[in-house]
Parts: sequence; structure tokens; C-alpha cells
Amino acid sequence: MIIIKTIHEIKKIEASCRIVAEVLGSLKSFIKAGISSADIESYIDKQIRMRNAIPAFKGYRGYPSSVCVSINNQVVHGIPLPDNILKDGDIVSVDMGVLLDGFYGDGALTIPVGNISAHASDLIRVTEESLYVGIGKAVAGNRVSDISSAIQSYVEANGFSVVRAFVGHGIGRSLHEEPQIPNFGKPGQGPRLKEGMTLAIEPMVNAGTPDIRILDDGWTAVTADGKLSAHFEHTIAITKNGAEILTKL
Ligand code: CO
Repeated sequence: MIIIKTIHEIKKIEASCRIVAEVLGSLKSFIKAGISSADIESYIDKQIRMRNAIPAFKGYRGYPSSVCVSINNQVVHGIPLPDNILKDGDIVSVDMGVLLDGFYGDGALTIPVGNISAHASDLIRVTEESLYVGIGKAVAGNRVSDISSAIQSYVEANGFSVVRAFVGHGIGRSLHEEPQIPNFGKPGQGPRLKEGMTLAIEPMVNAGTPDIRILDDGWTAVTADGKLSAHFEHTIAITKNGAEILTKL
């Protein structure tokens, strides 16, 4: 069942999302060569708690950390570690969720470390653009797969591939609610979108093939071919004026 939110509930989700946006927005100046993914986690964990909110991922299905930090060929769900040191030319995807006053917010972005290749930069740009293309289809009256199909077409037209193994999702009083929002598929399928739905749309885009595998830690998803991957996510609300981005930086 897809839960329709009242204006009041959307305001609460927005408050949670504002924390996500502020913290992710502040990361661009925090991230540099020489820091570890564990440094990113401790920074974000502190930023969330300073705002009297709770990191949503910690303990979620046993996930051990407050954020996911996925470097280069890591797609999503990278576990922060003190030994994972960022170096010039890396790309780093940071995914974070916040719980405030009973409602969740969820967002992610991929950030360059120092000077990155033109190829890596294209991958980041196309992934972010594909998120906005998908959000453009998140209007009342469309169907869920109109978002999916638009993302896939945009990504593939630019020579990259969309990951199939993970999907976007409804969000609200739970981090993951119905509907699932794949980043691939034919248009015109799945539930119809309605005003009051709140959705986390999150394309994961690979430079090579879409296939992934999970490392022995049970979480970290990496590209099967070892090539780069990028990830952007916004939480949005469907309003009568189209999609409102709640995690806008
Ligand atoms: Co999400």
C-alpha cells in the first residue's frame, strides 16, 4: 500500500530532508584527499546529532554505520573504514538518511576528490542529470515506471548503464515504503502517482556493465567489471505543481 501524506506530514519529512541537504551540501568542502571514509562518517554522525536527529541507517537491517560511503567501483552501501583513505582522482558517493520527529529523509550524492578524469566527471554529471530527468516525470497522473524509463533512457543515451539490483522507494514514517522505484523499465507501468506521495528516487549509474556483486562484508556493492559507479538521490513530494524536491541542497 502506498501511503499518501498530509501537508502536515510532508512538512515533517521536509524538516528531516533539510538536515540531509544541509549536511550533504557541507561535504564538498569537507571531502579532500587524505581523509578516510570513517572520517566522513564521524563528521556526518555528529552533524545529524547536533540537529537533534537520528542517523537512519545505523542498525537498519544490521547495517553497522550511520552513512554509506562508496568509493570508485563501489556502487552503494560502502561501510566507512579508517583504512579507506581518499586520494586525488577518486569519486566518492555518500548516502545518508535522517529520522526526525517520526519521519525520514534520504539523500545521496557523488563528489570528486581533487582532480578527476573527464570520464569520471561525465559519469557524475550524467547520473545527477538522470535524477532530475526522473524527478521531472514524478507528476500526479504518471505511473511509477515513467520515472524508471526516463532515467534508463537518459543514462543509456549517454553511454552508461543503470544498476538493476537496487531501487528507489517510498519514504515517510518508514525509511522504505511502497512503491519500489526501479531505474529501468518500460514506461506506463506500475502504480499511478498521486499528490501526497513522498518518494526517494536514486539512480545508481555504472560506467561499464550494470552488474554488481556484494563483498564479503555482506553490504558493499561493487561493479562486477571493476569500473566506476555514481549515485544521486533526492527525496521528493508529489504536489499539485509537480515534484517538490525536499532534499534540495
Ligand atoms: Co534511499
